[in-house]
Amino acid sequence: MEYRGYDSSGIALFDQGKLTVVKKQGKLGNLTAVLSGKEFNSTVGLGHIRWATHGEPTDQNAHPHVDCGHKFAIVHNGIIENMAELKSRLKRDGHVFTSQSDSEIFAHLIEKNYHGNLVQAVKQTLLEVKGAYGLGVISAAEPDKIVAARLGSPLVLGILPEQEGFLVASDVAAMLPFTKEVVYLEDGELVEITGEQYSISNGKTRLDKRDSQTVDWDLAEAEKEGYEHFMLKEIMEESKVVVESMRGRVLPDEGNVKLGGLIDVMPQLASAKRIIFVACGTAHYACRIGEYLIESQVGLPVEVEYASEFRYSEATLDQGTIVIAISQSGETADTLAAIRHAKKLGALTLGIVNVVGSSVSRETTAGIYNHVGPEISVASTKAFVSQLVILVLLMVLLGRQRRMTVDRAKEILRELGQLPGKIKEILQQQEVIQEIAKRYAASTNFIFIGRKLNYPIALEGALKLKEISYIHAEGYPAGELKHGPLALIDQTWPVVALIPQDSVYEKTLSNLQEVKARQGKIIALATVGDTQVKELAEQVIYLPKTLEILTPILNVVPLQLLAYYIAKERGCPIDQPRNLAKSVTVE
Ligand code: F6R
Repeated sequence: MEYRGYDSSGIALFDQGKLTVVKKQGKLGNLTAVLSGKEFNSTVGLGHIRWATHGEPTDQNAHPHVDCGHKFAIVHNGIIENMAELKSRLKRDGHVFTSQSDSEIFAHLIEKNYHGNLVQAVKQTLLEVKGAYGLGVISAAEPDKIVAARLGSPLVLGILPEQEGFLVASDVAAMLPFTKEVVYLEDGELVEITGEQYSISNGKTRLDKRDSQTVDWDLAEAEKEGYEHFMLKEIMEESKVVVESMRGRVLPDEGNVKLGGLIDVMPQLASAKRIIFVACGTAHYACRIGEYLIESQVGLPVEVEYASEFRYSEATLDQGTIVIAISQSGETADTLAAIRHAKKLGALTLGIVNVVGSSVSRETTAGIYNHVGPEISVASTKAFVSQLVILVLLMVLLGRQRRMTVDRAKEILRELGQLPGKIKEILQQQEVIQEIAKRYAASTNFIFIGRKLNYPIALEGALKLKEISYIHAEGYPAGELKHGPLALIDQTWPVVALIPQDSVYEKTLSNLQEVKARQGKIIALATVGDTQVKELAEQVIYLPKTLEILTPILNVVPLQLLAYYIAKERGCPIDQPRNLAKSVTVE
């Protein structure tokens, strides 16, 4: 399961009846090196590979976590939203924490709730925890047992052949070297496993035995959950990504947001006079949408710089300037250099980062994590969607400190909450998009056009296409075509047009007329119910209606799918395009 995260790992088992935990920072090899040559005689155990969400990737923060009495060990995927409240209550009761991980709370809560029955203790604990979990628990008090439960994080039970026992894991991939017979657990279910049997319950009720299923994937396929490429899997996760990026951060009744990582800098945010975003590639395009969002809704001046340029800039910064770096990996050398440069010039630096404990997160004063799990494919997709969601949340936070009304904030947050369903609707159109891709896969040039917030999406659509299909593609503001690029257009040029029903709809329609008059082949992304665009376009992909400021989050999804399917038609190595790397740690 190393592909799911790789910043630390650990195991817990019983060594002559004593709970033993071994954990190590870094790649799995570090743990196996420590364990090599050791022998244990344990019939139950837990293992975990960590993708940090709270606390840096250190030995202490690695899983399994144990309670004060060293009687219970847990592994946890997911996130505890009411961590602060639970932790302070447990501390008041005398529990001593040894890590910064939210997951450690499970071990202490189970210790507190244990009165001779492990299953009951886990059930009581789950009632107290808000958030998402795939949880595994063992205890020295009942050493023949594993208890596991899920809510919002996956969990699968594997049945070993010849009644040799059971496995439980957060991914079917982990099972395949041992068994292909599995039982998928549903949200809210808990499973109790002993040597001979297992029983699944749902809250208070014990459920009937569920039929197992036989998995017919091989290991490589299973890591991708049956998808041919990580890129497609990651695009398909985007509806969930919106939920994960918002989880625990929206205060619907107050029309506001709570961004835990920014609490310490709230006064500086309130008095900020200017924001400068720095980032590279896809993250840079997210910044350019952030610029529109914050300038239009908050009224703060915003500039966006390529990190690789900003690092050499001679700009004057002062304490009223906040420099915000956006980076999926948190290790991009140019972005890091830009932060260091900003600090030297006296600005407060913040980060919007996916990889917890990465260099950008460590070197900025405060920040916001995406919390969307590892992005494996080199082409960034789900991280971009998450970056946009976080920028909307940041916009609301800054707006509410200034001129944004409660009602407007509520409207935005309500609509943001509708996006997961709308993204699902778009993803269901993948076959339509695949057909379009087939038709244009042999083209040698593409132009993507959009206006306002969707101009950066045009840039991102072009970047996705060029990086994975090696087709020349450019993004342009739709109104700019007539100032030069229109000279290129003829019947061989596909023009991908972003034309939601927004404040510049009519203007973009005129721009499409100009393309059509030059015989350009228009592929349009329009709003459901639109009747005019199809008069001009060869193909139209219809997207659900949303607020103008949220249209980029929907529009990017079909463009990612289009790039994916075109690259697939062309037989390109989609997850690892030539000449590129996932994390660009050189200048
Ligand atoms: C494009 C892509 C790159 C990255 C860029 C920044 O699909 O993945 O353009 O967005 O290299 O990377 P991070 O976000 O890790 O700083």
